[in-house]
Amino acid sequence: MFRYKKHIFLLVLTVILLAACGGGGTKSEQADCAPNCEYTDMTFCYPQLGAESDWRTANTASFKETAGELGVRLIFSDAQQKQENQISAMRSCIQQEVDVIGLPPVVEDGWDAVLTEAQNAGIPVIIVDRSVSADTSLYASHIGSDMVLEGERAAEEFNKAMPDGGAVLELSGTTGSGAAVGRAEGFRNKLNDNITILDSQTGNFTRAEALPVMQAFLQKYTPGVDFQGIFIHNDDMGIGAIEALKAAGVQPGDLFIVSVDGTRGGFQAMVDGWFQADVECNPLLGPQVMEMALKLMNGEEIDREVLTNETVYYPDNAAELLPTRKY
Ligand code: AHR
Repeated sequence: MFRYKKHIFLLVLTVILLAACGGGGTKSEQADCAPNCEYTDMTFCYPQLGAESDWRTANTASFKETAGELGVRLIFSDAQQKQENQISAMRSCIQQEVDVIGLPPVVEDGWDAVLTEAQNAGIPVIIVDRSVSADTSLYASHIGSDMVLEGERAAEEFNKAMPDGGAVLELSGTTGSGAAVGRAEGFRNKLNDNITILDSQTGNFTRAEALPVMQAFLQKYTPGVDFQGIFIHNDDMGIGAIEALKAAGVQPGDLFIVSVDGTRGGFQAMVDGWFQADVECNPLLGPQVMEMALKLMNGEEIDREVLTNETVYYPDNAAELLPTRKY
């Protein structure tokens, strides 16, 4: 009899503990309005990582414009390239019981705890733009560019332009970010063995930080002698680098320069003869992400990974395309 009572007691205790571990997850994966939720029912949280580049400005505008057009309530914040700010913004959104979070992660690592908190609260997270290293079970989907492919495409441009080999510099993006890690990996995957990467330094995806990095490179290495090309992880850093190159007397076309993004600034650099190719990275993700957010609210099936279809732009039609660029 005593043994029987003890078992009942343990069972009740286990049920209580399991409920507590659920983190108060009262919200289900699909919203109360499912299966008929509309955009006007949605509160969408977008803890933007910063405002470091023209690409980022266009990405922010895409989310704000899409939310405005669809009638989605948007909770937007700018983390100023600091992961701790993004995590606080996410926690605030979890407290406000938003319907869906779109997270553009500044770096790949360190998201497990806050993703688990969102999951326990029943709030689906769509990883936007850069990737995370967290287990895929912690988020609903990833929508963004294939950063490895972008790096590979850049390498192929150098392989074509430098068949006899040479040396290149790399101006890399934010250390530990999915964009910088992926582009660096892809570049190394495809670069011919006869082309060496002489040096690689980060310019944190900004013009302001790329300028002194390029100046330091030019103190150390002679353009055209020690290196023949530069792979630059985004157009903003490219524009910062051009300032340093101009000041050092380098002329457009003296070096083979490949950048990433395809912003208006990048197109102008192709028109001016500085960039020989610009690998596209599309920031206009708002409509796609919000469409997926609505599907999640309605409990519909979604793809776990959606990679943006992109291309490479060249100087030959850059002047013609420049006025049509949306960012
Ligand atoms: O993650 C996308 C990258 O971040 C873009 O290439 C860059 O311009 C931005 O800052």
